[in-house]
Amino acid sequence: MSTDVVLPVTERGPEAGTAVLTVNGQVRELQVEPRVSLLDALREHLGLTGSKKGCDQGTCGACTVWVDGRRVLACLTLAVACEGREVTTIEGLAAAGELHPVQAAFVEHDAFQCGYCTPGQIMSAVKLLEEGHAGDDGEIAEWMSGNICRCAAYPNIRAAIRGVRDAAGSER
Ligand code: FES
Ligand code: FES
Repeated sequence: MSTDVVLPVTERGPEAGTAVLTVNGQVRELQVEPRVSLLDALREHLGLTGSKKGCDQGTCGACTVWVDGRRVLACLTLAVACEGREVTTIEGLAAAGELHPVQAAFVEHDAFQCGYCTPGQIMSAVKLLEEGHAGDDGEIAEWMSGNICRCAAYPNIRAAIRGVRDAAGSER
């Protein structure tokens, strides 16, 4: 841990300074310029390459992570804006070596081809299910519309989401 003083965001830059982020439950300190996106901070500074850079302009969803439990596009979010918040990436989803049920369902339903969009799809799908937006295929498609799949694995992605939805329903 460095002893650098962490300045308020408004007093930083343009040079790199210390930022402290909580990522997947761990406090991480990094040196970033204020202009650095959360996506670049995760991938380039923290070595968490699960979140993908597809478009880097907010149109593909490959970079989807959670900040304080809500989906955000990491390519459009500044790293320094996440100080004091809880960032969760695909690397933080599996617990105790067990795949998250949505991860397991993607494997079971063959919901990917190249896999590039898959981390973002899964981060969105978990929240869609939590929010109760998986009522039917139309609703799933609508609420997953921010996540583009160039391989067009959409039918299998929807099947995976339905599988988790139905399994949860049968446990009630
Ligand atoms: Fe962020 Fe495409 S890389 S939306
Ligand atoms: Fe290839 Fe979605 S699996 S982009």
